[in-house]
Amino acid sequence: MSKRIALVTGGIGGLGTEICKHLARSGRTVVAADLGSRPERLAEFKQETAEFADRIFFEPFNVADFDDCAAMIKRVESAHGPIDILVNAAGITRDTSLRKMSPQQWVDVLKINLDGVFNMCRNVVESMSERGFGRIVNISSVNGQTGQFGQTNYSAAKAGMHGFTMALAREVARKGVTANSVSPGYCRTALVQAIPETVRNQIVAGIPVGRLGEPSEIARVVDFLAADESGFITGANIPVNGGYFMDF
Ligand code: CAA
Repeated sequence: MSKRIALVTGGIGGLGTEICKHLARSGRTVVAADLGSRPERLAEFKQETAEFADRIFFEPFNVADFDDCAAMIKRVESAHGPIDILVNAAGITRDTSLRKMSPQQWVDVLKINLDGVFNMCRNVVESMSERGFGRIVNISSVNGQTGQFGQTNYSAAKAGMHGFTMALAREVARKGVTANSVSPGYCRTALVQAIPETVRNQIVAGIPVGRLGEPSEIARVVDFLAADESGFITGANIPVNGGYFMDF
């Protein structure tokens, strides 16, 4: 098992926490990067990841701010070494139908969910290419593939994320760097719990496996893509959605 350095944005969030744990279990040093403004959630995260306390570290930053991303990456590199694995899992929702959506709700989602991917990838790609190894995994969404009522902002960002991933995959393929996306369906996270109950029940009724996904079911796919042995998978999107959207 390789001693790689992994950085996970949105690292203390619902999916991010499980992704950190899976990567740590596979022997990686993991940095969970997230907003520093949620001390309660950070305390929970530390409890939930206590068995890996020697291997999981926290870095505060704002993914929507390019310079802040660059500074955080510098701190991580000087503390732990160059980043081998980047998982972009930072994301928010501001759900509302387009006729009611404010420019701010549009910008907030695009800045965090899509600009954030640029901010992070732009700041690691050169070093990964120079060293001849890198694994970039972008957490997209089934709703980037199908669209969802009330999510013009989120669906646009998530679909854009996969276009970005495919283009980047081509640019770095010869350098030992892969870029892939994982598109989770509806999982048991705070984001999904925030959907009004009646709407959520209707959504679950439309999932062929008949339940929400578990964050660990997403994390194991990220861990798989991050492996040294996954070097022939690039520009791919792996859907993990309980059959909610089937495609080939
Ligand atoms: N399909 C069709 N019609 C719908 C609808 C739907 N899914 N949801 C609401 N409507 C209808 C309502 O019944 C209502 O009809 P009337 O006007 O006839 O009363 C009307 O549309 C409401 O329209 P509004 O413009 O008022 O909608 P709104 O601004 O209040 O937004 C909503 C409604 C908050 C978006 C609500 O539909 C909702 O929460 N939908 C779920 C969104 C969702 O799935 N988000 C995913 C979050 S988790 C995530 O994103 C993680 C991931 O990657 C999977």
